[in-house]
Amino acid sequence: MRSPAVKEMSFVFCLLLAFVFCSAASVKATADEEDCLICHRYPGLARIDQKTGKLRLFYVNPNLYSESVHSRILCRYCHVGLDVIPHNNVKKVNCANKCHLKEPSTGKEFSHENIYGRLIHSVHSPGQPPHLKKYPQDFPRCADCHVNQIYRPIADLKSMKPGINKDALRRCMGCHRDKKWTKHFYEHFAHRMHKARSPKELVDLCMACHSDPVRMARHGLEPVSGYKDTFHWKAVLYGDPNAPDCLSCHAPPGFGIDVHSMVPIDNPKSPLYPKNRPLTCANPYGTQKCHPGATYKFAMGKIHRLPITLRGGVGLVSPAKSKALAPGVKEEALSSKELMQRKIYYLVKVVYTLLITFVVGGMMVHQMMDFYRTLKNRGHH
Ligand code: HEC
Ligand code: HEC
Ligand code: HEC
Ligand code: HEC
Ligand code: HEC
Ligand code: HEC
Repeated sequence: MRSPAVKEMSFVFCLLLAFVFCSAASVKATADEEDCLICHRYPGLARIDQKTGKLRLFYVNPNLYSESVHSRILCRYCHVGLDVIPHNNVKKVNCANKCHLKEPSTGKEFSHENIYGRLIHSVHSPGQPPHLKKYPQDFPRCADCHVNQIYRPIADLKSMKPGINKDALRRCMGCHRDKKWTKHFYEHFAHRMHKARSPKELVDLCMACHSDPVRMARHGLEPVSGYKDTFHWKAVLYGDPNAPDCLSCHAPPGFGIDVHSMVPIDNPKSPLYPKNRPLTCANPYGTQKCHPGATYKFAMGKIHRLPITLRGGVGLVSPAKSKALAPGVKEEALSSKELMQRKIYYLVKVVYTLLITFVVGGMMVHQMMDFYRTLKNRGHH
């Protein structure tokens, strides 16, 4: 006879097993054909990294994963060689791997190889061995700019795209009978009906590197923090969906160049190469036509070479000594015209800031005095 305690134990064990299998079965992801989530679905799957002392989380949320753009890719098509347990051959994921999906318009096996190919010839290429550029770690790789995005329905942006919402899915279902299939293609398509990122998110992404003066100086570039002094940025900040973010000027539609194939601005293919600039300012192929009458002179205006800050010890006498100047860029290197421009920009900024402070500040004082008087008068009816 087994003791009641053992019986109880085995009962609990069975319950646990049942729980594991039932919940595993309820996981929708196709990715779990291979059962990686049996372990990786537990939020506690984490440890402190011995080398860096940082917490590493190995948890993958199955529900979020099944709503993501990579939900139909098996884990092992990206994580090659990890179906061995314990995993003893961990490699970095290579985004040019074959995805084991067919691209339906050509019937060919799909992969991101083409994007890889473009990136490696773009301004963001660290070069290829043996001709690696200096500081290859400064260059963005796929995973620096991308996460596994969750499919976003168009209904998210109802205010911007009236008329398209979840009703559309119901409409697809009028003809397509398999709900899972239809939902997948609806989401696949709806997700791409708007930009992958808001302009603000995009600026944050690029600025993570391009506002870092030390990192940029290593590649002979100036930080472009001056963009944040422009009206373009203010419009982006306040949520205008069509205000120009970095890509609107550096990879706009119509130049055969996208974010993955950007070229330096002194390359004749660049939308910012002098003769191309009027067209870039006009933006005839974009959602928003911007400056349709842009002349060459207008288009040659400075965009973000002039970082001006009120902080950082900028004196009225010598605005060129702004902290935002890249190390190594000397005041002497600026032409007298540029110096003059800097002074004017700086003056305008100071006057503007003072004006706003006094107008808004004065209004607040006025309101407070009015409030005080009202309170006081209440006693006298
Ligand atoms: C039996 C449980 C179990 C299964 C099944 C399992 N894993 Fe893991 N996996 C772990 C554990 C535990 C770790 C953390 C190992 C460590 O401490 O470094 C881990 C770590 C990982 C990591 C991070 C490795 C690193 O060091 O960067 C990846 C990626 C991974 N697993 C992918 C997979 C994939 C893909 C599958 C399915 C093919 C899978 N796992 C199946 C338990 C499992
Ligand atoms: C589209 C490719 C892709 C798919 C599919 C994918 N992963 Fe990953 N995964 C990555 C990338 C990229 C990283 C970042 C680490 C790297 O670059 O190697 C990563 C990291 C991880 C990590 C380590 C997290 C860390 O902090 O180190 C785990 C664990 C993991 N994946 C598990 C899974 C599991 C489980 C699945 C299937 C449900 C899966 N992955 C599917 C691309 C993928
Ligand atoms: C410098 C940052 C950066 C790097 C590096 C980068 N991407 Fe992108 N990628 C973007 C941005 C930004 C977009 C969105 C463009 C838009 O919204 O019009 C994008 C778009 C995409 C898209 C289209 C997504 C969609 O739903 O429309 C794919 C696919 C893609 N990238 C894959 C890759 C791969 C694979 C790599 C590595 C070889 C890579 N990217 C490297 C920034 C980057
Ligand atoms: C009026 C009926 C009807 C509606 C509504 C409809 N479809 Fe279809 N769909 C079809 C038919 C019929 C085909 C196949 C014939 C064709 O390719 O034109 C098809 C083909 C497709 C295909 C291509 C399948 C393949 O493998 O070639 C996709 C994807 C698709 N529909 C998705 C959708 C989505 C998403 C919606 C809703 C936004 C939708 N459909 C609405 C009737 C419809
Ligand atoms: C309105 C158009 C426009 C926008 C928006 C824009 N740029 Fe530029 N960018 C330019 C022009 C024009 C130049 C050439 C230098 C100049 O005249 O200011 C340039 C130059 C650059 C350079 C080269 C700097 C150097 O030292 O040679 C980098 C890097 C750059 N931009 C990155 C960005 C990033 C990152 C963003 C987003 C935060 C951005 N740009 C937003 C138009 C733009
Ligand atoms: C991980 C860091 C990193 C991120 C993120 C990044 N860049 Fe860069 N970028 C660099 C480096 C490093 C260079 C210098 C390339 C060289 O040395 O040739 C560069 C060069 C450039 C240039 C070329 C300037 C010239 O004319 O020589 C442009 C334009 C540019 N980046 C725009 C962008 C935009 C737009 C984004 C956002 C989509 C972005 N970058 C995101 C690191 C980054």
